[in-house]
Amino acid sequence: METRKVYIETYGCQMNLADTELLIGLLKPHGYEPTQAVAQADVILLNTCAIREHAEERVLSRLGELAHHKVRRPEVRLGLTGCMAQHHREKLLDKAPFLDLVLGPDAYRTLPELLIQEEKDEPLVSVRLDRDETYADILPVREEGVRAWVTIMRGCDKFCTFCIVPYVRGRERSVPTEALLTQVEELAARGYKEVVYLGQTVNAYRDRDNDFADLLHRTAKIDGIDRIRFTSPHPSDMNDRVIEAMATCAKVVPYLHLPLQAASNRVLERMERGYTVEQYAALVKRLRTAVPELALSTDIIVGFPGEEEADFCATYDFMAEIRYDSSFMFKYSAREGTKAYKWGETLSEKEKGRRLQAIIALQERISGEINHQMIGQTVEVLVEGPAKRQEGWLAGKSKQFKTVVFPGNGIPPGNLVPIRVLSTTAHTLIGEVHA
Ligand code: SAH
Ligand code: SF4
Ligand code: F3S
Repeated sequence: METRKVYIETYGCQMNLADTELLIGLLKPHGYEPTQAVAQADVILLNTCAIREHAEERVLSRLGELAHHKVRRPEVRLGLTGCMAQHHREKLLDKAPFLDLVLGPDAYRTLPELLIQEEKDEPLVSVRLDRDETYADILPVREEGVRAWVTIMRGCDKFCTFCIVPYVRGRERSVPTEALLTQVEELAARGYKEVVYLGQTVNAYRDRDNDFADLLHRTAKIDGIDRIRFTSPHPSDMNDRVIEAMATCAKVVPYLHLPLQAASNRVLERMERGYTVEQYAALVKRLRTAVPELALSTDIIVGFPGEEEADFCATYDFMAEIRYDSSFMFKYSAREGTKAYKWGETLSEKEKGRRLQAIIALQERISGEINHQMIGQTVEVLVEGPAKRQEGWLAGKSKQFKTVVFPGNGIPPGNLVPIRVLSTTAHTLIGEVHA
């Protein structure tokens, strides 16, 4: 069979990165190999994100650049997959008439078939959402490394009023537990040391009688896997069984990304997040009691419609009180089709920017302080490979998902090494092997 080359550029969250590995897995049996060189690709795909307007603008301008490849080589097929494809569907063809394919997240199985169709004149749009599609039988082609990203559930049923995900990813559905455990056993056999379970509300996972806590317990029994992470859990689904699994399974790392969004009950209610600030704070308390070493990160949106100065200050103060290890902070972006879109914007971009800068500065300070306190401690690092900035140094992650760099002495990736922390920045721990 003649090999053809596929080039995929990925935008958005880890779930999209995992979907890119899935797309390559779907194409491989049909004679496609991935390439990093776009000029040599027979198929060019942009796997896209629709979460904020900015994400979409980047893709549209990139599409314009990539269209040049089709001018020189008209046989090249150019496609757009993922959340933005699902969001805009046929309308994308008005903005990018040179697209050959528009494929939503539940339509990936049709990709090989669509690519062999001789008829190239009409662009093909496939955006049917499917309540049952989990791609459980497809083997993703993963990047080499020590960490494997494993999608355990797809879709979201929460419908937070600002969020496009439930519309572009469809209803919640979980990959069967047995299929997942077999996959992780194979990953362990191939040398992966860490699995990261993925889902938009990952802890809502359920396969008949097996819930997310069961999955964690059963994964922890697999030999060869040293660390288990997951992202993103929803605070409302963070029950005592999951907390107990985190506390008792040594392989489940003491790190949690627990999106807060805002710390004013008025705003949380309008976001329809399903919890109050008090409930969220009580949850953090339970987690910190059960897992004393817990590192916490979060997502925050500033400038949600109707967010008053007092609401914003409540978020600022709450962040200062909780002291997250790190935060992903965003300006609200109105998404057509969501409930909040109809409420319009109540703040200028400038004011949203001011609020964002204020919490970024706060978080930088806190992250720096938390890391500084680690000087002198020894942390266990899973070695990933050469450090990016310092020649001859190695980099890896601590259990708490902090990047650690240290002078390397030929330790191969996949090893767990004790590193004594000597100095820190807000984002990195710098150390040496603790003999
Ligand atoms: N499922 C996860 C979040 C997934 S989206 C959860 O519920 O926690 C990742 C983050 O993007 C969200 O947590 C939110 O902070 C941000 N986000 C989502 N929609 C947004 C919007 N319309 N404008 C700005 N940020 C948004
Ligand atoms: Fe979006 Fe809310 Fe679902 Fe997260 S839980 S993906 S923020 S709708
Ligand atoms: Fe973006 Fe889709 Fe992920 S909207 S954040 S790529 S699920």
